[in-house]
Amino acid sequence: MGGHILEQNLTREASDAALLSARGLNKYYGGLRALRDVDLDIVRGEIIALVGDNGAGKSTLIKTLSGAIVPDGGDIVFDGSSVSFHKPTDAQDVGIETVHQSLGLVDELDVPQNVFLGRELTRKVLGAITVLDKATMRQRTHDLLQNFSIGLPTLNEPVRRLSGGQRQTIAISRLLLAEPQLLIMDEPMAALGVDEGSKVLALVERLREQGITTLIISHNLEHVFSIADRIAVMKNGAMIGVVKTSDVTREDIVSMITIGQA
Ligand SMILES: Nc1ncnc2c1ncn2[C@@H]1O[C@H](COP(=O)(O)OP(=O)(O)O)[C@@H](O)[C@H]1O
Ligand SMILES: [Mg+2]
Repeated sequence: MGGHILEQNLTREASDAALLSARGLNKYYGGLRALRDVDLDIVRGEIIALVGDNGAGKSTLIKTLSGAIVPDGGDIVFDGSSVSFHKPTDAQDVGIETVHQSLGLVDELDVPQNVFLGRELTRKVLGAITVLDKATMRQRTHDLLQNFSIGLPTLNEPVRRLSGGQRQTIAISRLLLAEPQLLIMDEPMAALGVDEGSKVLALVERLREQGITTLIISHNLEHVFSIADRIAVMKNGAMIGVVKTSDVTREDIVSMITIGQA
């Protein structure tokens, strides 16, 4: 990794190619500094993985990028404009959608109801009465799943009957309705078996083919190396480095995570 210092200086300035540039993000929880002057550029169209030990600050960082928490300092430029997010809808309004670990699905509702949760389509009957447009929501859910080659046994079952991977894909699908520019995922494969984890990985790759940029937190370095274009490593609230996946080995990443040096 020659030219390291030069690279660091260059990245202090927001890069033109970046979809998102964060500079100097800080977050304190009482006396605990959860983010320490964190810089991050997310390049348009890439899959960038965010890794680090428990407590490194990964979730805190993505919460500042998704409007779930407000940083105590720092700047975010998104798609060429300065932004400041005070609530999740502020980030959603500019095209950033986030899948949190909890997924946010309602177990008793079926697939279309979950996909359209909070943004239900309605139609008027008899010229005046507003009713839910179930047929269109079902059709659009079907099309959306088709588009991303997501096979589901049935759309009419309550989602509690579906597998972890299927639930995960529904949680992702519902965000795609908003046609996001940036999709953020916190540990999407964590609770999944090997087969289901690979399906979610394949979905993320299809999203990249469709031009969606993804920031994905994962503990699983095998997954990270199989899909990420670049890897960002955090430790103790600091960004240790961001490297191209093709330039490093798993051992390099493990030592960045544990020793905290690029
Ligand atoms: N709401 C909170 N209140 C107090 N401390 C928190 C809160 N959220 C996170 N922390 C602390 O901030 C640090 C970073 O946490 P987090 O961002 O969740 O790390 P990671 O996602 O990398 O495991 C940890 O020390 C954690 O205990
Ligand atoms: Mg976390």
